[in-house]
Amino acid sequence: MNWKPCLCCAGALARSIAIFSFIFVTVTVVAVLQLPVAAQSASASPAAAKPWMNRQLSPDQRADLVVKEMTLDEKISLLHGTGMLGLSPMSPLAAQSNGGAGYVVGIPRLAIPAIQMSDAAYGVRSSGENGRYSTALPSDLAGAASWDLDAAYEYGALIGRELRDQGYNMSLGGGVNLAREPRNGRTFEYMGEDPLLAGKMVGQVMKGLQAQHVLGDIKHYALNDQESGRNAVNVNIDKRSMRETDLLAFEIGLRESNAAAVMCSYNRVNGAYACENKYLLTDVLKKAWNFKGFVLSDWGGVHSVTMASAAGLDHEEPGELFYGEDLKKAVESGQIPMAEVDDHVHRILRSMFATGVIDDPPQKSVVDVERGFEIAQKIAEQSMVLLKNDGNQLPLDASQLRTIAVIGAHSDVAMLSGGGSAQVDPAGGNAIMPPGEGRTTWQAHIWFPTSPLKAIRSRVPAAKVQYDPGTDVSSAAALAKAADVAIVFAHQWESEGMDLETLSLPEHQDDLIAQVAAANPHTIVVLETGSPVTMPWVGQVTAVLEAWYPGTRGAEAVARVLFGDVNPSAKLPITFPKSDADLPHPTLVKPPRKSISDPSDPEPWIAIAKGLPAFQVTYDEGLKVGYKWYDAERKEVLFPFGYGLSYTSYGYSDLKLTSGKSVRLGFRLTNTGPRAGAEIAEVYAVLPASAGEPPKRLVGWSKVNLDPGESKEVAIEVDPWYLSIFDADEDAWKLLSGEYTFLVGGSSSVLPLKASIVLK
Ligand code: BGC
Repeated sequence: MNWKPCLCCAGALARSIAIFSFIFVTVTVVAVLQLPVAAQSASASPAAAKPWMNRQLSPDQRADLVVKEMTLDEKISLLHGTGMLGLSPMSPLAAQSNGGAGYVVGIPRLAIPAIQMSDAAYGVRSSGENGRYSTALPSDLAGAASWDLDAAYEYGALIGRELRDQGYNMSLGGGVNLAREPRNGRTFEYMGEDPLLAGKMVGQVMKGLQAQHVLGDIKHYALNDQESGRNAVNVNIDKRSMRETDLLAFEIGLRESNAAAVMCSYNRVNGAYACENKYLLTDVLKKAWNFKGFVLSDWGGVHSVTMASAAGLDHEEPGELFYGEDLKKAVESGQIPMAEVDDHVHRILRSMFATGVIDDPPQKSVVDVERGFEIAQKIAEQSMVLLKNDGNQLPLDASQLRTIAVIGAHSDVAMLSGGGSAQVDPAGGNAIMPPGEGRTTWQAHIWFPTSPLKAIRSRVPAAKVQYDPGTDVSSAAALAKAADVAIVFAHQWESEGMDLETLSLPEHQDDLIAQVAAANPHTIVVLETGSPVTMPWVGQVTAVLEAWYPGTRGAEAVARVLFGDVNPSAKLPITFPKSDADLPHPTLVKPPRKSISDPSDPEPWIAIAKGLPAFQVTYDEGLKVGYKWYDAERKEVLFPFGYGLSYTSYGYSDLKLTSGKSVRLGFRLTNTGPRAGAEIAEVYAVLPASAGEPPKRLVGWSKVNLDPGESKEVAIEVDPWYLSIFDADEDAWKLLSGEYTFLVGGSSSVLPLKASIVLK
């Protein structure tokens, strides 16, 4: 585990170390005294003495039976982690950790195993320093671009299998913060700007993961939509807006998957820290959504004992600054009722039973590398979005090409990945300096050893394929001038713990692309980005392919799309605006510099801003997130939400609409072009004017495979919930009566079919 400055920065560090030292020493003494006793009773107790091991009982019954047997110390041991490797000092118990971000001791006397947690956003983290291997899937945003529920399930299942193979039984993946602020450095870890798409996709990831008997976690709850000052920022937003946008993605994800855990975020929401926010944790999550699992804090995100516990925080990570001795004292002095502690414990245990981590614990094994390659490549191929293709420049015809110039972004050897706690270690280490480094360091730019140059060369063995690093624009332009086709790879790195200053491509890449395009009229741009980017050169190039951070087998997937072995089908899960000025907040709000105790703190520490006074971010765009903003404000965009080209074309016709318990749409979809393909058909609804909603919202979609000339009837059922609004006064979802118009098509901006219905 890398030492992460974000967890206890600057001034707070010394204080935390002192508290950690005291608590860890205390806990160690208690634990060392207890463990031999626990071990003895474990061997002495007959199976019949553990009735909770009866699989016929429900997870809740089983958990209740365990809770009855537990001492207060045992209960508290489940409610916090044991520290984090590299964060010194830490509990010696952590030596039993599997090397992940979190470790919770087990209770052998009661046959309750330890919880071994690992970050696992697009693959299992920390494999380098643990001497293991993990597959890097395409980034989560890329996965969302597939709009493919089966692919999302496979994405989660792969992560679940690799976690188990490595000895973990809990994932810290499942990031689903809405892309309200696309410059958020974690945009690549999330699933875009629409709550239905993001919620459904994260739900499938969690289902696939939990089916492997691994505890799933959805994070960061809630409204942790920027990294700048994430520990200090107070997000102001009205209830209706949060319930219909950011919170709705969580609600759908949880409803779809019954994920075991929700991680509360660092920021404050309407005045209270998310990890002690009664509205978020109890009123909404546990009561309104009937969430049965447990809430764990983001690492170092707890600020109190009694307030956090009463608000609904069940578990503290990574240590026990609050949920150790202080929690015990609060229970003993009657400040916290035992029933509250029992509820926290029950939630953890019932989730362990429900997910199968107790009945079917992980067995360490060799990760199936080949299977990982195959799945990562398949999902990458389904997630790359073809944004522009003038004159059918793509797919490239290998038989017609004599010379190809491949330019920029280390495309001779590698493709980029996203950083922070999502980071996956590449096999063989970072492909770009320092070479052979087996593990990643916090916020290093990690390039995966998947070479576009090699993959392209293998497609056109007879052609001359030459590489230019793009550092010298005129040399790149000269190479491009002499080639039949120029392919420029461009990148935008992002990570946890930072935000992008702008959506422009960094360094001199805009100039590089413009100069190459001026030299060669057949210029193709392949983007490796975590967020949308602006494209001042878009009119000059013939084709643009958004490859995102494509994972372990990115280059092969890119080559297969460029040469037409794969017909692109992905659609944007996030709008590409024309400029930063068009965003709801043209300037990202940062913590005021004067509040930083040490002005020499480097930028990442400023970004995290732990221990600083609150500063305000007001999401007054409210319901208008992503395309809803651009629609409502009538702002033209570069590429709209839901947009993506194919090498074939599709026709939409014959829309029929019926309503009963739900609204059902039927329409005909035809492949009118020359190639087999998969079309993502999208359905949007326009609500009655009285709803006061943005112009339209996504209410359903279907991904349909079609051979050339083939036509299929597509049926989409719309859950009335997706047509409802949240009434903040009544604290309930409401389906208003009135006229609903449904728009169907292949992008949020091209919707050829339209029909209306009156709902009473
Ligand atoms: C991140 C979480 C992550 C945790 C453990 C935090 O800094 O915000 O997403 O799961 O660290 O690594």
